[in-house]
Amino acid sequence: MRYADIYDRAKTDPEAFWMEAAEGVDWVSRPSRALSDEKAPLYEWFADGMLNGCWNAVDRHVAAGHGDRLAIIHDSPLTGTVHKITYAELQARVASLAGALRAKGVEKGDRVIIYMPMVPEALEAMLACARLGAVHSVVFGGFAANELAVRIDDCAPKCIIAASCGLEPGRVVHYKPLLDGALEIAAHKPEFCVIFQREQEVAHLEEGRDHDWHAFQYGVEPADCVPVEGNHPAYILYTSGTTGQPKGVVRHTGGHLVALNWSMRNLYGMNPGEVFWAASDVGWVVGHSYICYAPLTFGCTTIVFEGKPVGTPDAGTFWRVIRDHGVKCLFTAPTAFRAIKRDDPKGVLVGDYDLSCLESLFLAGERADPDTIVWAQDKLGVPVIDHWWQTETGWAIAGNPLGIEQLPVKIGSPSVPMPGYDVQILDEAGHPVKPGELGAIAVKLPLPPGTLPTLWNAEARFRKAYLEHFPGYYETGDAGMIDEDGYLYIMARTDDVINVAGHRLSTGAMEEVLASHPDVAECAVIGVSDTLKGQLPMGFLCLNKGAETAPEQVVKECVKLVRDRIGPVAAFKLAVVVDRLPKTRSGKILRATMVKIADGESFKTPATIDDPAILDEIRAALATIGYPA
Ligand code: COA
Ligand code: AMP
Repeated sequence: MRYADIYDRAKTDPEAFWMEAAEGVDWVSRPSRALSDEKAPLYEWFADGMLNGCWNAVDRHVAAGHGDRLAIIHDSPLTGTVHKITYAELQARVASLAGALRAKGVEKGDRVIIYMPMVPEALEAMLACARLGAVHSVVFGGFAANELAVRIDDCAPKCIIAASCGLEPGRVVHYKPLLDGALEIAAHKPEFCVIFQREQEVAHLEEGRDHDWHAFQYGVEPADCVPVEGNHPAYILYTSGTTGQPKGVVRHTGGHLVALNWSMRNLYGMNPGEVFWAASDVGWVVGHSYICYAPLTFGCTTIVFEGKPVGTPDAGTFWRVIRDHGVKCLFTAPTAFRAIKRDDPKGVLVGDYDLSCLESLFLAGERADPDTIVWAQDKLGVPVIDHWWQTETGWAIAGNPLGIEQLPVKIGSPSVPMPGYDVQILDEAGHPVKPGELGAIAVKLPLPPGTLPTLWNAEARFRKAYLEHFPGYYETGDAGMIDEDGYLYIMARTDDVINVAGHRLSTGAMEEVLASHPDVAECAVIGVSDTLKGQLPMGFLCLNKGAETAPEQVVKECVKLVRDRIGPVAAFKLAVVVDRLPKTRSGKILRATMVKIADGESFKTPATIDDPAILDEIRAALATIGYPA
């Protein structure tokens, strides 16, 4: 079957298509149907089936006689260690951890926050939750205590599982003080914490509340898999929206496993037993889907990599990992390749490694710029596939389905919609536009299995943020076009979300932090272009009249404030003080115009601008920090 036939089949008979895909996972009791539409426009998939996520990702492979197959390879150039775990070992470890959690009262439906770096224990914690039917929420290690606290209050976990520390090049990230800080700020108090003590730092445990990862497992009965409904939440993953309150994307167990399992063969061209490497972090959706659940459910070996594409120790690290572990498919963000290309422009280090095992490179998380794609194609000699998706969708909305057939690659396009996604480009009034015309990218409802059914405890926000603007559609928040051949092009976000090194960040959230500085009267944060990270946040600060602190000092304090409140991942280092912000006569800040000025692009002064002279002031302020770069 060709891509077009498969896509059409999913469109004309979604019931049959997805029920067939559902055969790829193990059910305790099969669902009677695929789609539940009684609550439209809220949809659910495989709602009345019963299954277990951990069984599918771990136990079933052991039961099928593959217990000796490698499930996880942990490769950490930061500690200089490589550690391999078979499916049988993983099963024992996860069952033991789940047993200990259960002994402390964790049950189906309880939330568990996981705050861990790139160690196998992070996956084990996720899988132990899945084993019990507990709902995990992994928080990325680059977030500060305050962000962790916001998530603790939103999902009210019974327990938090954390590591004593994470490792970044040249520094130890002290997780435990961050966790303690978050627990002080948060109104909700979990019943207990479990701390995985790493060799690099042994954290202080608080008597009564904190338990050592190993000690609390002594003597407990390993837990079996608890069957859950297909529409039981597997996890909540918070992602940036337009405000400081992140959106808790909910993922239901059944659809999530069915779609991910389908994607491993059909999109990524994998077979069970082969090695898949998503060089991301478990704290992001890519990590949830393609470090943990998809490769394991499909019976592949997954790589947990603790390092960076450059500097750990050099720009050849990715090639070493691919060679050492026989990686067939690498998935990463374009920024990683931009970093490698910057350090080793000629790709000299590629030649030092036998990369004959590598068959494809998939890029996602941000726009893949043509230079990077061409460089990767040239140096690696394998198909380089851009694919587009979001935390909300959990798997690709558009891609090039290597496992079905490789469609011609059009550089600049993530190719074509995946089965189940009816992607359309709409004008402001919600009418489809002609091929080649720009508009808002929307997906006709229902979305396919694996995508978000709602936001955690925030159905009204879910409807408002995604469903109301274009009734009958899911609004992606991206703008772009579809060409005559049906290829999609993703051009920009339609909201205040920016993308920094493949990390999705809210400028609104940063503005909230800046506005809390006592000397800041008004502020704006925009995303400016950056050759390495794609975008960087830049703040414009208007100070209170009579503010006594020197402007440079306010800038310094604001940079620190964002790092302390949101975290280092925000990469907020650029800010300038200005007298006024450019606004329309109705008071709307002209952020898009500010971006153009900072990027050195030509633009038309908006007709609605209140005072065009302010644009010169912005230009002059930017010049003081070397912008346009
Ligand atoms: N825990 C704590 N801090 C973290 C962290 C983590 N898990 N991840 C990143 N940080 C910190 C970094 O140390 C850095 O801090 P600094 O300001 O003190 O230098 C800051 O957050 C910004 O990190 P990052 O954006 O990763 O920049 P970088 O300069 O360290 O590295 C790249 C740049 C391009 C090499 C890096 O971003 C990268 O490898 N990106 C790959 C893309 C990726 O994984 N995307 C995920 C979605 S697919
Ligand atoms: P996240 O939820 O962190 O995965 O970020 C999702 C957003 O990243 C999308 O809405 C896009 O704006 C952007 N994005 C992801 N993949 C791509 C891609 N292949 N091309 C362009 N933008 C992308």
